[in-house]
Amino acid sequence: MDKFYVTTPIYYVNDVPHVGHAYTILAADILARHYRTRLGNQNTFFLTGTDEHGAKVAQSAQEHDQTPQQYADEVSEQFRAAWKSLDISNDFFIRTTDVRHEKVVQEFLQKLYENGFIYEGTYKGLYCVGCERFLTESDLVNGKCPLHPNKEPIYQEEKNYFFKLKELAPKILAAIKNGEYKILPESRRNEVVSKLEGGIEDVSISRAGVAWGIAVPWDKEQTIYVWVDALLNYYSATRFLEGKNEFWPATVHLMAKDILWFHSVIWPALLLAANLPLPKIIFAHGFFTINGQKMSKSLGNVIAPQHLINEFGTDASRYLLMSEYPFGNDGDLSLERFKEKYNSDLANGLGNLTSRLAKLCERVDRFSVSAKHVECQKNNTFIENFQFDEALKHIWNEISAADKFMNEKKPWMLAGPELQAALEDVVGRLRHIADDLVPFMPATAEALRKQFGGEKIVSGPALFLRK
Ligand code: MSP
Repeated sequence: MDKFYVTTPIYYVNDVPHVGHAYTILAADILARHYRTRLGNQNTFFLTGTDEHGAKVAQSAQEHDQTPQQYADEVSEQFRAAWKSLDISNDFFIRTTDVRHEKVVQEFLQKLYENGFIYEGTYKGLYCVGCERFLTESDLVNGKCPLHPNKEPIYQEEKNYFFKLKELAPKILAAIKNGEYKILPESRRNEVVSKLEGGIEDVSISRAGVAWGIAVPWDKEQTIYVWVDALLNYYSATRFLEGKNEFWPATVHLMAKDILWFHSVIWPALLLAANLPLPKIIFAHGFFTINGQKMSKSLGNVIAPQHLINEFGTDASRYLLMSEYPFGNDGDLSLERFKEKYNSDLANGLGNLTSRLAKLCERVDRFSVSAKHVECQKNNTFIENFQFDEALKHIWNEISAADKFMNEKKPWMLAGPELQAALEDVVGRLRHIADDLVPFMPATAEALRKQFGGEKIVSGPALFLRK
């Protein structure tokens, strides 16, 4: 691989950033930072942004007495700010109200129309505004959308344009089966394959009653369905940004399982219909719950990334979110558990080792700086296989091993060359740990490199204060 392009879903601006959103973008950030080291900045592209059109956003704007554009401007800014405080290194932040994006979307749709993949029809059925999608009978649980049980699905009957998804299904199945693109984890791939094999219907790709959207190029009475508009962000950014053309097709689209179908079936089908290459990997991670409950505004249990940052700091929040569960599984978060983990792994673990070591190092006049960074193959493999929790476990094993070495060698009882040799051993380990930490905890890695990278090592402020 000589180019790496990673994306997150673009987040709806009807909601404010929470730890669920943060989880996906952190994973993307880790991958981007890792590949920047491996392939260079110019060969890595990391895209995120906000999804700003559609009925849901228009409704929220109205509830806030704002125009959809004002409202989108405001919330989009909150996402940007949240990602900044989490030290997210995205190369670009796309907004679907950017006219450059809108132009690519219209051109794309026109092409699909000309290629014969779009026809006019009437849609009759239930629509969930929460999901911005039509529901079939089999989707319903007690007559409601399972993801939005307190929102009544709306019956709609209107003229729409349809996309010939059914006709493309065999091609999609073949592309999945011959590995043209991968759906990960494997269990999710199997779900998608069996749903495809069960037979699928065409999908509506325009709306008659939603004014807040991009106009269908050949029929100004209709707007483009918000999901088609949104999915195209991954491609449009590579068209309208200078020097990014060669990043298409994307290497990996990250998202949670809730929107896997759109990414793993509808998106590749749209691309096939436009004769464009398919992304390489679609990875769906699990869903966070809070103390066993779904995170929701009405339950009042939404955790904002800023809340974690205020409590633990940026790097610690990054660590706590990424080390808790295998990326892919569902998981329950608890602030209590975060606090325990913060104290054991960060304050007592890495923090304590660092301060103990620095103090002892003051006894040595001059450390060798020759220790070269050895690429940790194990760590690379974990990251490249999306096993972020395993990579962190591996680093924390290295930390424990360094601690154990200190306890056994007892450098505080040594002097002269023996003291120097024992400390150089631990310093070498810590330099290595700092290198491994770069994608996960960039500021901590930098602080460690500064403190332990030179010839003279002295104590500094504690990295993580006990809570
Ligand atoms: N706008 C669409 C995506 C369009 S992409 C072309 C959308 N936005 S969203 O704001 O609802 O964000 C969905 C994504 O946020 C999920 O796929 C996931 O990445 C993240 N998460 C939202 N809630 C989450 C949890 N409770 N747990 C983990 N991730 C969650 O859907």
